[in-house]
Amino acid sequence: MPARKPLHRQRDTVLYVEGGRALNGRVCISGAKNASLPIMAAALLTDEPVRLHNVPEVADTDLMREIIHQLGGRVRSLGGGSLTITTHRLASQVPDELGKRMRASIVLLGALLSRTGAARLPKPGGDEIGARRVEQHIRGLRAMGADIHETKADFVAKCRHLKGARVVFDLPTVTGTENIILAAVLAEGRTEIFNAAREPHVQDLARFLVKMGAQIHGIGTDELVIEGVERLHGAEHHVIPDYLEAGTYAIAAAATGGDVTLECSPPEDLRQVLLKLEEAGVQIEVGEGEFRVRRPRRTPLRPVDMGTWVHPGFPTDLQAQYLALMTQARGESVISEYLFENRYQHVPELMRMGARISVHGRTCFVHGPTELHGTDVVVPDIRSGAALVIAALCAKGVTELHHAWHVDRGYQDLAGKLSEIGAHIERRKPHQRKAAPTTDRSYE
Ligand code: EPU
Repeated sequence: MPARKPLHRQRDTVLYVEGGRALNGRVCISGAKNASLPIMAAALLTDEPVRLHNVPEVADTDLMREIIHQLGGRVRSLGGGSLTITTHRLASQVPDELGKRMRASIVLLGALLSRTGAARLPKPGGDEIGARRVEQHIRGLRAMGADIHETKADFVAKCRHLKGARVVFDLPTVTGTENIILAAVLAEGRTEIFNAAREPHVQDLARFLVKMGAQIHGIGTDELVIEGVERLHGAEHHVIPDYLEAGTYAIAAAATGGDVTLECSPPEDLRQVLLKLEEAGVQIEVGEGEFRVRRPRRTPLRPVDMGTWVHPGFPTDLQAQYLALMTQARGESVISEYLFENRYQHVPELMRMGARISVHGRTCFVHGPTELHGTDVVVPDIRSGAALVIAALCAKGVTELHHAWHVDRGYQDLAGKLSEIGAHIERRKPHQRKAAPTTDRSYE
């Protein structure tokens, strides 16, 4: 286990941001959280050691390490985002307190069924961005022969032997696709997944499993064919850079009228986002394994409409940040969120900072430009937190972001990285003179 206090146990952080400074410089993008989590789960599919590099130091990966540790696995940190995972013997019950904190723990269902023939895990935590059902995961695993009993609080699953099946998703679910892949690689026979999710992190999981000896065809497409193998072996893997982190810094640079180069970040995964930024008047220069985002402050931002979609569409995980950017554009922009029905929790907080936004169902009308002002805000989830930081960087005065631990779930050292490129941002314990807002919101 890590020597430092795990990030998921540090719940009292407040971020203080003094706005009004353009971001300038270079930022090194960390490994992808949403790739690391299923890849760590995949490490449970062999009793040989697995060595991973570029795993981001964020609260969710700390939590996954703790879960694996409590299941009986050994996670050894090698420093600098590298770790080894070895699991000789493995329990099949995910501790309630840990499992329900993180939505991604659901991928342990496929992994544990595959490795141990049984799994018991709490239903992933109360999420506020939408209903986030998992019925497609369950339907797919049942088609593969798993006997899954669902109670109000948890899933209890067992199977003698998983068998390949044809799994057709109604919609391309990211963790659903990952769950079926994890179950299929060691199942008997062939599994076909139709309408599979194609996000870069799903692809990275598949590539890692291939290194372990899995047979997966169609990686990067929406039709995956997996031929089950008898066993998987240890492997070494560099997790892909986090395109969502890169997108967040790109938007922050554009919003503040800055000039930032994002290192270790191939821009291909962000095509849609970069196109939207260019349409809005932001200059993008693509180099090898990096890209530069520039907007001279006197260049006004144009309002550009956007709708989220599954990959390669505009990622829902960058919608909040993009919306914050559009508060600085001259004119009205229309933002639509098609993936999650409740992913506008940043809007009331942005409005408290002066933004003019009206929400109509899944669509938001943003009227810009607005001069934002610093105030106290409460972070409702990871990506909304990033959006509020971007707004705070543009705002006049000081913004205090409470419940900033949400941001730690998905961004490695956000305050440190932003400080290095000129932001005035600090992590502190809650201010003595002001009580933190009392609203508590559970994990994603
Ligand atoms: N859905 C169903 N039934 C299912 C599965 C999904 O109706 O059985 C619906 C969901 O309710 C949602 C849509 O399908 O409306 C898409 O959900 P999906 O299953 O793809 O999302 P997820 O797997 O729960 C992952 C990421 C999210 C990201 C979404 C969409 C991880 C650990 N989480 O969630 O990331 O927003 O895909 O790309 O990979 C984040 O990192 O901040 C985050 C929330």
